[in-house]
Amino acid sequence: MTQHLADRTEPNGPGTESRPDWWRDAVIYQVYPRSFADGDGDGMGDLSGIRSRLPYLAELGVDAVWLSPFYASPQADAGYDVADYRAIDPMFGDLHDADALIRDAHDLGLRIIVDLVPNHSSDRHEWFQRALRQGPGSPLRDRYHFRPGKGTDGELPPNDWESIFGGPAWTRTTNPDGTPGEWYLHLFAPEQPDLNWDNQAVHDEFRSVLRFWLDMGVDGFRIDVAHGLIKEAGLPDMGQSGQLRMLGTDVLPFFDQDGVHEIYRSWRKILDEYPQQRIAVAEAWTPTAERTALYVRPDELHQAFNFHYLNTPWGADELRQVIDSSLDSMRPVGAPTTWVLSNHDVVRHRTRLGGSLARARAATLLMLALPGSAYLYQGEELGLPEVVDLPDEVRQDPAFFRRAGHHDDADDGQDGLRDGCRVPIPWTAQGSSFGFGDGGSWLPQPPAWGKLSVAAQAGDPAATLELYRAALAIRRTQPALGAGDGVEWLATPPGVLAFRRRSACGGTSLGAPPGRSPGEESGGNTAVVCAVNTTDKPVELPDVLTPGGSRLLASGPWPAGTVLPADTTVWWGE
Ligand code: GLC
Repeated sequence: MTQHLADRTEPNGPGTESRPDWWRDAVIYQVYPRSFADGDGDGMGDLSGIRSRLPYLAELGVDAVWLSPFYASPQADAGYDVADYRAIDPMFGDLHDADALIRDAHDLGLRIIVDLVPNHSSDRHEWFQRALRQGPGSPLRDRYHFRPGKGTDGELPPNDWESIFGGPAWTRTTNPDGTPGEWYLHLFAPEQPDLNWDNQAVHDEFRSVLRFWLDMGVDGFRIDVAHGLIKEAGLPDMGQSGQLRMLGTDVLPFFDQDGVHEIYRSWRKILDEYPQQRIAVAEAWTPTAERTALYVRPDELHQAFNFHYLNTPWGADELRQVIDSSLDSMRPVGAPTTWVLSNHDVVRHRTRLGGSLARARAATLLMLALPGSAYLYQGEELGLPEVVDLPDEVRQDPAFFRRAGHHDDADDGQDGLRDGCRVPIPWTAQGSSFGFGDGGSWLPQPPAWGKLSVAAQAGDPAATLELYRAALAIRRTQPALGAGDGVEWLATPPGVLAFRRRSACGGTSLGAPPGRSPGEESGGNTAVVCAVNTTDKPVELPDVLTPGGSRLLASGPWPAGTVLPADTTVWWGE
């Protein structure tokens, strides 16, 4: 099947063939398949819907598209519970749709990155079902973490680990004869049993799955919970509760264990067997940026998400500090730093940063001026806010149900849980589900979203969509943006951040965005200055926006002169 489907496996659209190291400064757009576009009108997004919108993504100017999982799945965690790693869930389409999507994307010059979920499978996966049927002592149980319970009758979980979604990380099974049985580990929902990466069959299976999708022509993988695969030997107790609050800051026996790196070294060898630089990006929650850098050593994965950046509040000092520490930590291993503001697991950055669209736009222009690769989440280019008033009866995030009554750890958005950032995209100003599809949408869209739709914004120079388009067009033609591994900080008043990015090619013209000739507006610049005012007052920046330079782009209205308005980022060509 794969062989037949994939007789053309490489990106061949404009600009893709001749870009070695394409991933180092790539802008990668995350599509959440159930919420992007619905081709068959069942209220749920699908591959044919995504395919029909690929020209929109090409026109937006991104380099690659990362698709959250579309595999066969009972959808206990929106597809992050995979029942068959080589099949498409019927609600999203089939393998022919996936093949057509990859081909179309490549024809448009877009690369495709798929999500790989190796930490756990679905409890409906054949492996888990067989392990359950065969009962305690079966070697098939060794592919997961089955353990007898503690207490006199095994009625207590084997250790004190807590699920990321709330409650214990263990669920007790029932034996084939109906008696209470062993427990199994699930760091996420009970429908997501953790795989045991000390078992060789697990290694063999995932190497084969990697090859399956590489043969289909994908350009890379986003590795889900890349930090979780290896657990500390003996599964020792944590000795304390509230473990969720320790994620990303503390050393944990189930996350970021050194043994994970051996796995990624073996995967890198497979990726390198394929032409055109196939890549992998780690979702790795680790206590420090230095620990994250270990995942992207030259013989491991290519990129890791920079969650420290995502979690940084809107303040000049904090931003400068995280930018420096991010760049400093990646430099020794030679990997590009990544930047991300929004994804399907967090409150959309417009809402997270305080609700102001001006600030969200300023944050985006800052991110897109930084060296390395940037990740966009579908809908942020429309300035979509988090939906904070979804009624309980439409909620689907398993964390919502597991944490019911325990929402105290949420301080933004609706309750810090994840349905509010997953509401389907508005494409048209009117009509059923604003053009998402003909059959409504699986989560209700706010009535005001027609005004934020693609159709309402396209062509309006003041619209957020046009800001993203302009920024990405400039980024493509200005090597000073995106490239390199450092920034040159400029002196600024408090609350303001400014840095210069220089082109590696020295004094030559950096070219101009499409539709402009070199030297016009971009002024044949050899460097770009990015200046950010994080305060709520305008500031004068005569030493930063120097005479002789030219305006490239601003995240909001920018009066003539050297004043930078509140919550505004500007790009200044030198
Ligand atoms: C990752 C995904 C998240 C999912 C979890 C379990 O964090 O981004 O959506 O729930 O892994 O697979």
